[in-house]
Amino acid sequence: MTGTSRTDRAAAVELVGVDKTFPAAGGGAVQALTGVELRLGPGEFVSLIGPSGCGKSTLLRVVADLEQPTAGTVLVGGKSARQARLDQDYGIAFQQAGLLEWRTVAENVELPLHVHGVAKAERRARAADLLALVGLADFAAHRPSQLSGGMQQRVAIARSLATRPKLLLMDEPFGALDEMTRERMQAELLRIVDETAAAVLFVTHSIPEAVVLSDRVVVMSPRPGRITDVVDGRRPRGTAPGGELFDPGDVVDAVDGVRESAAFFEAVTEVRESLRKGSTVSGPLTVDTAAPRTRPTSASEEGS
Ligand SMILES: Nc1ncnc2c1ncn2[C@@H]1O[C@H](COP(=O)(O)OP(=O)(O)O)[C@@H](O)[C@H]1O
Ligand SMILES: [Mg+2]
Repeated sequence: MTGTSRTDRAAAVELVGVDKTFPAAGGGAVQALTGVELRLGPGEFVSLIGPSGCGKSTLLRVVADLEQPTAGTVLVGGKSARQARLDQDYGIAFQQAGLLEWRTVAENVELPLHVHGVAKAERRARAADLLALVGLADFAAHRPSQLSGGMQQRVAIARSLATRPKLLLMDEPFGALDEMTRERMQAELLRIVDETAAAVLFVTHSIPEAVVLSDRVVVMSPRPGRITDVVDGRRPRGTAPGGELFDPGDVVDAVDGVRESAAFFEAVTEVRESLRKGSTVSGPLTVDTAAPRTRPTSASEEGS
């Protein structure tokens, strides 16, 4: 908003020394996040992975200014989290689609464009493009409740992309989708963020999904919620110098190529082992000394 390049060069997201403590039901406290240090460069795709309750959603909500950190600082594109929220600098797609029932599907997608002052004709056109992109062109005039959960989620994804934001915050956005749709949406997301040079902070339970989409996979561990490891992902990048990295038809091939590569399996193994380690090692700040901590959890891909 300042017209200078200061915010353009800034990290897409920067968390320094972030703690978040919630009051617990029994009167104690839940350390949802402790000592979180995380920096997303412009255009970087970072996934958060870890067992249920390790603070992934809390971390995203802190970035989105939906929770206030107990300690530490949060910058979003060089601005305070609050200012970035007020300026609607990013697109959000969370687990609940969060659509407005009194608006049509198309009107829901248009909503962020409204807020950004985009003229009506262009809003219509862009909503139509986005709905086609997520395979819902025929449902523009429907109400959200007339759609399945997976379809509602695709509407939410379309809405998050509407302003072509430089940052996307996504919390298990593909969790409700069938496997085929999920793989198609993964490829589309990669194509779009290449085109728009958007950074993405992405929560997932799926190790392969994290690896195939991400530049970096951030591994988290619970009690207290913290970052325990960072693994290089295998996000495919096109080779065209400058400009568009993928031809629309190429991205599916590129993603398929990654999924079949040895480097992909290596990274999946690395993340899995890292998760296993995290699930058996207790942090120095763990309060609940009575709980058994060495029970290994299998593969860490389930949970919510
Ligand atoms: N609003 C809240 N009030 C109290 N505790 C919360 C709240 N939100 C999250 N928590 C707790 O913080 C921890 C992390 O939760 P969350 O960020 O949702 O984990 P994840 O998304 O990794 O499953 C959990 O122990 C959860 O119960
Ligand atoms: Mg969550």
